[in-house]
Amino acid sequence: MHIHILTLFPNMFTGPFNESIIKRAVERGLVDISIYNIRDCTSDKHHIVDDYPYGGGPGMVLKPEPVFETVEMVRGERDIPVILLTPQGRLFNQQIAADIAGYEEFILICGHYEGVDERVREHLATDEISIGDYVLSGGELAAMVVVDAVVRQIPGVLGSDESVGEDSHATGLLEYPQYTRPQDFKGWEVPEVLLSGNHAEVARWRREQSLRRTSKRRPELLDRAILSDKDRVFLARIKSEE
Ligand code: ADE
Repeated sequence: MHIHILTLFPNMFTGPFNESIIKRAVERGLVDISIYNIRDCTSDKHHIVDDYPYGGGPGMVLKPEPVFETVEMVRGERDIPVILLTPQGRLFNQQIAADIAGYEEFILICGHYEGVDERVREHLATDEISIGDYVLSGGELAAMVVVDAVVRQIPGVLGSDESVGEDSHATGLLEYPQYTRPQDFKGWEVPEVLLSGNHAEVARWRREQSLRRTSKRRPELLDRAILSDKDRVFLARIKSEE
């Protein structure tokens, strides 16, 4: 996979992309990440990337020319998805991350200032993504979130002991509680069933914890989760206990 990121702040990516799973994925050649400074694609002496909004109002707007120019330089004749990070985009989730993980190559544009010229949205972006209903100072942190969630889903990026399948949301449910040693920490004990060595019992306990937790914290997720008859019986039971 090749990810191209267009930004006005390329240095922001150095730390996060040089650690942990993303770093390892890049080193193993499973993903290539190229960062482009939009300012490098300006043709005026002062390398201006923003300007006042037509019609007035506060803040500056990212000009269309350097953004189009950078995208055209990156994609050449290739037809590559162009994703604009913006609070106005569709809300990012695990499913969208999985869809993007299927792309060979894609471009992320990090918006900045008060906004991006509408012609970028209309005539250049093929998708718009928001990572949540809040406003960040720019699309950079959002791009990092998207890259992280996507890269960990590329086959081979996670080791077999770090499977994506059990993650919260991967199953459509929140993840079950996890414990490691010590067995007794400040008098708080690890649930007995996890020490039993009975794999079927452990699996059942985990499934029920996932269901219980999802039902309590994010009940709306249950509408779309894949549930067995046994799951439904369990959910009905905990509902009746409330
Ligand atoms: N840029 C600013 N806020 C954002 C958000 N919530 N998601 C994606 N890009 C953004």
